[in-house]
Amino acid sequence: MAEVHKPPEKFTLRLRRYDPESGNAPYWDEHTVELEPHRSVLEAVLQAKDRFDGSIGIRCSCRQAICGSCGVRVNGEPALACHTHLDAAKAGAKEGVIEIEPMGNMPVLKDLIVDMDAVHWKKIQRVTPWLLAKQPVPEREYIVSKESMVDVTQTMACIQCGACVSDCLAMEVDPGFIGPAALAKAYRFVGDPRDAEPYERLNDLAQDPQGIFDCTHCFKCVQACPKDVNPMGQIMRLRRIATQDHHIVDQNNGERHEEAFATLIKNNGLLWEAELLPRSYGGNSWFGKFAPPAGKELLSSLPSIVKALLRRKVTPMGVFKPHKIPSQDLKAVQSIYDKIESRPERYELNLYIVGEDETGAPATASPEGSVSA
Ligand code: SF4
Ligand code: SF4
Ligand code: FES
Repeated sequence: MAEVHKPPEKFTLRLRRYDPESGNAPYWDEHTVELEPHRSVLEAVLQAKDRFDGSIGIRCSCRQAICGSCGVRVNGEPALACHTHLDAAKAGAKEGVIEIEPMGNMPVLKDLIVDMDAVHWKKIQRVTPWLLAKQPVPEREYIVSKESMVDVTQTMACIQCGACVSDCLAMEVDPGFIGPAALAKAYRFVGDPRDAEPYERLNDLAQDPQGIFDCTHCFKCVQACPKDVNPMGQIMRLRRIATQDHHIVDQNNGERHEEAFATLIKNNGLLWEAELLPRSYGGNSWFGKFAPPAGKELLSSLPSIVKALLRRKVTPMGVFKPHKIPSQDLKAVQSIYDKIESRPERYELNLYIVGEDETGAPATASPEGSVSA
């Protein structure tokens, strides 16, 4: 049956305008366009550009969510302009006005166009984004298992739109962080059995203070990605392979930090914040705080500790005692650890692929992309 579209409606757009060369400050500009509600935000901006102001800057090409060039923020959230319907954008808009801004974490070149070369592509280059083929190269082709390809297909779906980079909280604080898109790209090769240097890649990204351990696990990139690449999930996989399979101990204490985090929750059911820092630096036991590196780090963290105390994020008693939870809850938490730790090998389940399994039951794509234990 042919799809029935609603008649054209009026949509008001609020565009963030900025031309660094003009010397003027950024400002907001409003235009009302008329389009069918199923049309995209990109079409609306192009209509405004066509009818009212030819100087509006926006980058686009394919108009069908493939080339990755129309990344913007719609109502404060990262989105592909060509993949966001006007009715949906209006439903999420304040007072019915659709707000469109350039992506974050990248310098604005003009209006809605950001400098992807300066940030996004520079970081992609950083991870050697090509296969370092295992030698000798076979006469015909490399044979790769289906499972291995399924595993990397998720990262291969990336269209390099930069939406994850735009929203990455770690990059906001530390612009030098390699970032979600580049690290997802790194997993694409680390997870590929044809690559000859997974250890070197992992060691490089683990030892880099702005590498895999710089991610704060905030989930923003997972929500932002229009292709369900699940960059954070790929970063966690890189960490697991680096620490558990290759036993890489990084100079950033990332591996020790994770160990300490997991142990504190296993022992107490909740995180014991005051113990986390010394154990991350001094070793994963109560005595960790007496190790010289932990003492040094504690001293340098004194201003943050005082702030946390003043804001009641930690209490003085919390330094000496962990949080307490009911014993049945603690047992429930510990049983999860027991179950996971008793498995003979790590279990990774990639749920990205859409299709049917042998029984004919549908297998669906998951925004989380993968689960593991
Ligand atoms: S999960 Fe990590 S990489 Fe993703 S947005 Fe948050 S800090 Fe950035
Ligand atoms: S991981 Fe997703 S959000 Fe990030 S660049 Fe690739 S497609 Fe865009
Ligand atoms: S124009 Fe290609 S992804 Fe939007």
